[in-house]
Amino acid sequence: MLVTGPRGTKDILPAASSNWQYIEKTVRDICRLYLYKEIRTPVFEHTELFLRGIGETTDIVEKEMYTFTDRGERSLTLRPENTAAVVRSFLENKLYAETLLNKLFYIGPMFRYDRPQAGRYRQFHQFGIEALGSKGPAIDAEVIMLAVQLLKKLGLDDLHLYLNSVGCPECRPVYREKLQSYLQEKTSNLCTDCQSRFDRNPMRILDCKKEKCAEQSQGAPQIVDCLCDECSEHFSQLKELLTLAGVEFTLNPRLVRGLDYYTKTAFEIQYAPLGAQSAVCGGGRYDGLVAECGGPSTPGIGFAVGIERILLALEKQNLLPEAANAIDVFIAPMGTAMQGMAFALLCNLRENSITAEMDFMEKGIKWQMKQANKYPARFVAIIGEDEAAQGKVMLKNMQTGVQELVDVNEIQQKIQLDMED
Ligand code: HAM
Repeated sequence: MLVTGPRGTKDILPAASSNWQYIEKTVRDICRLYLYKEIRTPVFEHTELFLRGIGETTDIVEKEMYTFTDRGERSLTLRPENTAAVVRSFLENKLYAETLLNKLFYIGPMFRYDRPQAGRYRQFHQFGIEALGSKGPAIDAEVIMLAVQLLKKLGLDDLHLYLNSVGCPECRPVYREKLQSYLQEKTSNLCTDCQSRFDRNPMRILDCKKEKCAEQSQGAPQIVDCLCDECSEHFSQLKELLTLAGVEFTLNPRLVRGLDYYTKTAFEIQYAPLGAQSAVCGGGRYDGLVAECGGPSTPGIGFAVGIERILLALEKQNLLPEAANAIDVFIAPMGTAMQGMAFALLCNLRENSITAEMDFMEKGIKWQMKQANKYPARFVAIIGEDEAAQGKVMLKNMQTGVQELVDVNEIQQKIQLDMED
């Protein structure tokens, strides 16, 4: 019996890989523009990093981690997200000593034991950025702008940016208490998940997708009304900066995000046509995370975009570019005796940066011409016995249909001249 891939994973097949390369290139271009530098960390980390970083009472840590013990009895976890790992690397490699503001980006696979469905996988890919070192709202605005500009550059519209502030360790406990006393009487009407969240993580009740929970928390007090002066000022300035930059946003006091490290700014960008998995980007500020991981207190903010979800959105809007399969020359040897000359020509063209291919299947000329058209090839170099004897090939321009006998040494020049036209 055939062994299939694990549930929730996907192969990126040759026909689709150019779409991934297109997104990755757009990401790299925009990171260059904003001066974010790439960081690559391992796909697995010590489990403790995620327990401390993401929070023990989050869904990710409680239900979704791929945790295993290695042969040395260490508990390791496939990264469910990359912020904690970037912070770990930032500290371990003392990046804070190199510059005051570290602007980093990453692209790579993440792993969550989620229930697979369209737009939700167990291995998925994120592009993310993390800006470590600045506490001011201007960097929040830059981070959000980068996400917005990326999605715009890819051509996506119909996007909505939702914004909230989740406060800080000073004002959040006050809000938490207010929220708990509001929900106290209503707990029996909440789903079982939210009932258990009531004591441990009551703010998560606000973004529960179940209708009955949404009904119960309908008139709940809002965190924005409980922010301390510092958080409140930060939030107003951010809103002002975004307005200045012409970025449209909707305030969503229910946006709390599923990771415990967030402080102040929290945001999400949604693409509604994706239905239940409409969040294409999520992020926020995490001013306590670096200290939580044992480092010098350093503020941070970032986001991650789900690449599979972006691909789904681009597909829906018909925005994916055609794959570039065209080649310059297809070499068609007429018989196996001509293969040596064909191969020598192939090597020579490639050495001169001309995209070339030859027939490796030992087929007849008819099949070879069809194959050349499939790419399509701009030229076909037909090598027959008579031509080969004179050190020449029949070069056919596939656009004009014109054929001419050309010396092998002149082929490269002919093609390059045509490319310049
Ligand atoms: P997150 O909201 O958990 O945030 O994930 C960010 C994005 O990853 C989501 O908006 C979604 O597009 C995508 N995503 C998440 N889970 C899945 C899945 N199972 N299948 C497909 N796509 C998925 C974070 O991960 C934070 N580390 C973001 C961040 C960076 N915050 C600050 N810095």
